[in-house]
Amino acid sequence: MASSNRLAGRLVPTALASARPRPTFAARQHLSRPSQLLPSGPRRYASSSSAESLPLSRLKVALWSTSIALSGFVVYLYVTDTRSFIHRYVVPPALRVIFPDAEDGHNIAVSALGTLYDLKLNPRERSSSADGPELSVSVFGDDLRNPIGISAGLDKHAQIPDALFALGAGVVEVGGCTPLAQPGNPRPRMFRVPGIDGLINRYGLNSHGADHMAMKLRERVRLYAKSIGLDEESVLNGEANVPPGSLLPGRMLLVQIAKNKDTDGSNVEEVSRDYVYCVERLAKYADVLVVNVSSPNTPGLRDLQAVEPLSKILSAVVNEARRADRKTKPKVMVKVSPDEDDESQMQGIVQAIFSSGVDGVIVGNTTRDRAGVIPPGVKLDQQDARTMTETGGYSGPMMFDRTLNLVGRYRKMLDSYSRQVRHQDTIDKEAVDSSLAAIEGTLTGMVEDKAPTAKNNGPTSLLGKQADTPKVIFATGGITNGEQALKILNAGASVAMIYTALVYGGSGTVTRIKSQMKEEMKGGAQKK
Ligand SMILES: Cc1cc2nc3c(=O)[nH]c(=O)nc-3n(C[C@H](O)[C@H](O)[C@H](O)COP(=O)(O)O)c2cc1C
Repeated sequence: MASSNRLAGRLVPTALASARPRPTFAARQHLSRPSQLLPSGPRRYASSSSAESLPLSRLKVALWSTSIALSGFVVYLYVTDTRSFIHRYVVPPALRVIFPDAEDGHNIAVSALGTLYDLKLNPRERSSSADGPELSVSVFGDDLRNPIGISAGLDKHAQIPDALFALGAGVVEVGGCTPLAQPGNPRPRMFRVPGIDGLINRYGLNSHGADHMAMKLRERVRLYAKSIGLDEESVLNGEANVPPGSLLPGRMLLVQIAKNKDTDGSNVEEVSRDYVYCVERLAKYADVLVVNVSSPNTPGLRDLQAVEPLSKILSAVVNEARRADRKTKPKVMVKVSPDEDDESQMQGIVQAIFSSGVDGVIVGNTTRDRAGVIPPGVKLDQQDARTMTETGGYSGPMMFDRTLNLVGRYRKMLDSYSRQVRHQDTIDKEAVDSSLAAIEGTLTGMVEDKAPTAKNNGPTSLLGKQADTPKVIFATGGITNGEQALKILNAGASVAMIYTALVYGGSGTVTRIKSQMKEEMKGGAQKK
């Protein structure tokens, strides 16, 4: 304070000020007039004052610049932090007002996020404690920093996976991507239902095609490889010690694939070729490939969830994924609809999962079923009520209970199927063992080395091997807060994925959900 008073030159204590000689008029004039106009007489006094004021004004400028720079830095830190108020309470409502068409709002948000990321001005999770050991989960044998994912459809063309990871997600799913580019359904095809924080969409899998997405993902790997002085192949083969898809430790990139609309859904061979084409192009860049057979907006797509076509398609995808030109192969998951929820349909899907060797299932998607999506007691305004009659898949918080129920049921079915397979395998092995023993008995003395038995060296069936590795579940549908995410995980999922909550809650949603989860866990521990 004292020094700033001295620097300012005005706020000196009165006693000191009065002790100083008062500047002459000329000198006072000098303070306000250019020096060449000064008379020569009082020059000495004037020049000594000038020598004093010049560094003073420089200091002032320096002080101002520093404080402006500091304030700018503080604003930058605040605005680019996912916890900032504006990401929740300013940006999402502003997008709704400025872009009445939800797809326009979505496109602008995606390209703005991409541009901000390139300029290093993107919102990001800055707090180092946002994850922490309590949120870490093991998925497919690898550690994931946290169990919150961003669901397919938000980054359909793999334009901004890194900007989405920066929001704090442990998992980002890009796509759905079809083999050939297709435009999707005519616009408008995305609608907001703000009264219930819901969305309806009938995009119909608009995609730039698998070659385009492969090009985008390859470019990303190349840039990353260059930044750490490796080549593309080394990064894909794990030499950078990061997953080859996400390129970030403890995170996973999911790449979702689907069939083209024009491909005849009743011809399973043709459909399989569509998926296999996508795998050929994209497997290298994915930690997990997701087979989409559940979008409600591609005619006939969900029929592929019947056990026979599903088994064939998934087997084709798994086989192709195992051939991926990379040291570690991507895992394969299948995304299933919440509308195929009767016991026999679900059993069929579980059977197809085991018979094909798929590693897991993403339970949920948007729904065609409008029953129960409006909370009791809520009366929609006219606009929302009209929007609810639009054709397409609905998503929003009211889907949560259905998702939770489905996750619990799939968990039970998958585990019970796995037990059955193990049991059956043991019976088969015992049968093989006893027949081999009988044969060995008749051969005793004739051969020195024992033939390998099923017990000591014999083959285990493909299903048996799978039964030893539990099938992984990711969940999507109506997850909005930390308490719900925890419930989903406790019901048997490894990852809780979000989309609509991000649209309404803004880019701090992932951070918020994680901190709510921690609070919930702390609360639970204290209660105990
Ligand atoms: C506009 C929009 C586009 C979507 N596109 C896809 C897609 O391409 N593939 C897919 O599997 N799911 C897609 N989904 C579904 C989401 O991935 C998610 O499963 C669903 O919205 C339920 O989750 P939520 O309640 O968190 O939104 C889309 C959803 C929305 C709202």
